[in-house]
Amino acid sequence: MEMLALQNKVHDETKQGEAFAPFELEPNIFRKHFYIESYGCAMNFSDSEIVASILNNEGFGATKNLEEADLIFVNTCSIREKAEATIRKRLTEFRKLKEARKGVLVGVLGCMAERLKAKLLEEEKLVDIVIGPDAYRSLPSLIEEAEGGQKSVNVLLSRDETYADISPIRLDSNGVSAFVSIMRGCNNMCSFCVVPFTRGRERSRDAVSIVAEATDLFKKGYKEVTLLGQNVDSYYWFNEQKDKAVTFAELLEMVALIHPNLRVRFSTSHPKDITDDVLFTMAKYENICNYIHLPIQSGNSRILQLMNRTYSREWYLAKVDRIREILPDCGITTDIITGFCTETEEDHQDTLTAMAYSKYDMAYMYFYSERPGTLAERRFDDDVPLDVKKRRLQEIVDMQGALSTQSNLNDIGKTFKVLIEGNSKKSDTDWSGRTEQNKSIVFPKGNYQLQKGDYVHVKVNECTRATLLGEIVK
Ligand code: SAH
Ligand code: SF4
Ligand code: F3S
Repeated sequence: MEMLALQNKVHDETKQGEAFAPFELEPNIFRKHFYIESYGCAMNFSDSEIVASILNNEGFGATKNLEEADLIFVNTCSIREKAEATIRKRLTEFRKLKEARKGVLVGVLGCMAERLKAKLLEEEKLVDIVIGPDAYRSLPSLIEEAEGGQKSVNVLLSRDETYADISPIRLDSNGVSAFVSIMRGCNNMCSFCVVPFTRGRERSRDAVSIVAEATDLFKKGYKEVTLLGQNVDSYYWFNEQKDKAVTFAELLEMVALIHPNLRVRFSTSHPKDITDDVLFTMAKYENICNYIHLPIQSGNSRILQLMNRTYSREWYLAKVDRIREILPDCGITTDIITGFCTETEEDHQDTLTAMAYSKYDMAYMYFYSERPGTLAERRFDDDVPLDVKKRRLQEIVDMQGALSTQSNLNDIGKTFKVLIEGNSKKSDTDWSGRTEQNKSIVFPKGNYQLQKGDYVHVKVNECTRATLLGEIVK
């Protein structure tokens, strides 16, 4: 499913997981309640927290309980056909609910709203509000119109909206890790990708407001922030006097300096934009996690060119070498699309060998899904048959399985500084946390007086494909 649990799923988009609904916030003081479910990338989850803040100011309280909701929102993703199909299915469920309970309003937010615009109202008759990612400030007035019986749509994209002044309400948070949005939109035109159309032009958020938000989180007990953007390395913000620009490397440093106990992560890096400056800044500060999500998409230069990724196989692999040179213990993960237009068996083999070379710790793997309006849809035939796509994907998944297992085996005997995120899923007597490299690690609580949000050193004794198992050493 194209969903992502909000908690701690740092890195980038469309990660598997669960939809979430927010905690209830002091129910009695609110005139109405809203329920919000989010799909897609971390940016969408972060946006839902902005939406929650806007609604809160208007006297709407968040609820986790659908039955109690006067307003039902779904923050949607268009990245692949399957993502949209999942959401449409969910909308039919909401429709039933709406039929059973008069007065409930359903709103579609996010990328699918932006892609389909008013057409969504024709296609999904019981949707009342359609609102795109740059229009959330107008949500209260759209709700008002919808309450008056009028369907309402706002899908205007903006060149400067960053919601910099809105302080997000943390939904379903573990109280340890939080997302901080640093930019919006994307100026790259990867030919397969719908994001530039759904999220508009790239713009960077005021660095001062980013540092203020991260500082506030730290004061509230958070220990980890993930700086979010579709292409964080192209972050570039001019101060008000327009005499000083802040680059991503500088922003990283500013956030790292807030406190040594605040871990800093970021996502996503486009291989073409991650600079030595960023790598050296990562090396300089212990609290910037040595972890980079570096989507390769394909290991074949011809396919990469058709994808308009603007790097070749060799260039990408040289970037991996450079990362390993400057940050020897850096975790590297990736995204892969298999079965892109015209991909041959040899091209596919190139992806497998590039994976083996890069030794990814983890990967998100997809088969190509043609998206209406993208460059690839207009220019190329989606000519790799579905069964071939699926077989290639399986080979890629198997390769990654072997690489992940090997990566975890390599950690046995090593000791890592771990940020405790909470009880392990399986047992209250075990903690679950994360290493700098973003690997999940589970270990017995023992007799130590620790709590979530604490750092602890853990020695790895065993592993599974997805988790390290260890013991506290100090
Ligand atoms: N901004 C990020 C990625 C955003 S989308 C970046 O540039 O890396 C997340 C991932 O979804 C992409 O990395 C890609 O692997 C996948 N994806 C995007 N469009 C897709 C499509 N049309 N079909 C299949 N996978 C796609
Ligand atoms: Fe899509 Fe490419 Fe932008 Fe990532 S960098 S969001 S893949 S267009
Ligand atoms: Fe994210 Fe999906 Fe939109 S990946 S940017 S929510 S299309």
